[in-house]
Amino acid sequence: MSKKPIIVFEGIEGSGKTHHINKICKYLDKKKISYIKIREPGGSINSEKIRKLILNKKSKFNPQTDLLLYLAARSENINLIRRYYKKKIILIDRFTDSTIAYQHYGMGVSLNTIKIINKFLLKNIKIQFTFLNIVNKKNLFLRLKKRKSLNRYDQFDMNFYNKVQKGYLKLAKSNKKFYKIIDSNSEIKSNEKLIIDQLKKII
Ligand code: TMP
Repeated sequence: MSKKPIIVFEGIEGSGKTHHINKICKYLDKKKISYIKIREPGGSINSEKIRKLILNKKSKFNPQTDLLLYLAARSENINLIRRYYKKKIILIDRFTDSTIAYQHYGMGVSLNTIKIINKFLLKNIKIQFTFLNIVNKKNLFLRLKKRKSLNRYDQFDMNFYNKVQKGYLKLAKSNKKFYKIIDSNSEIKSNEKLIIDQLKKII
């Protein structure tokens, strides 16, 4: 019997988190270990509706509205998470740390407000482990240059993403036991191995 933790993947755009989450899914499929995978914003029917609204290039919301919409999207996911909590492994592509990194460290919205609403939504739900994918300035610049602007949040500049990544690192360093920092500038295969080795310890 494996443990059924909540495992979160965090990092700025292009940091490789989605690649690694998919690798974990393949590994779990092979081992016939049950799990669910969700992304935020999105993940459930209503949350996907809110995702479209937030990330639409034509939307022009202020940072507070953005915060409330991300949290509304999370609120719509909580039932799904609660249903499988401790019954299946739950893999989440972005979660509460994204809100702190982007809305607080990136956009300057009150940290306390974010913490209070996250606590209100999550109640007894606990994240067991977070993989934080980081990129260096050179690679971030190259990735941003190459990337097509797909949504409203793809249009920020280097300075913004630097602030967001620094915020993520602050969170990871304040709670080292529950985070693994994945240096996406290193060889992808060795990172895949690092992540699977860590996964084996967690589940
Ligand atoms: P994605 O491209 O990884 O799907 O994420 C969509 C964007 O949403 C990404 O730019 C990060 C942003 N985001 C926040 O700003 N706050 C949040 O709480 C979440 C979950 C995502």
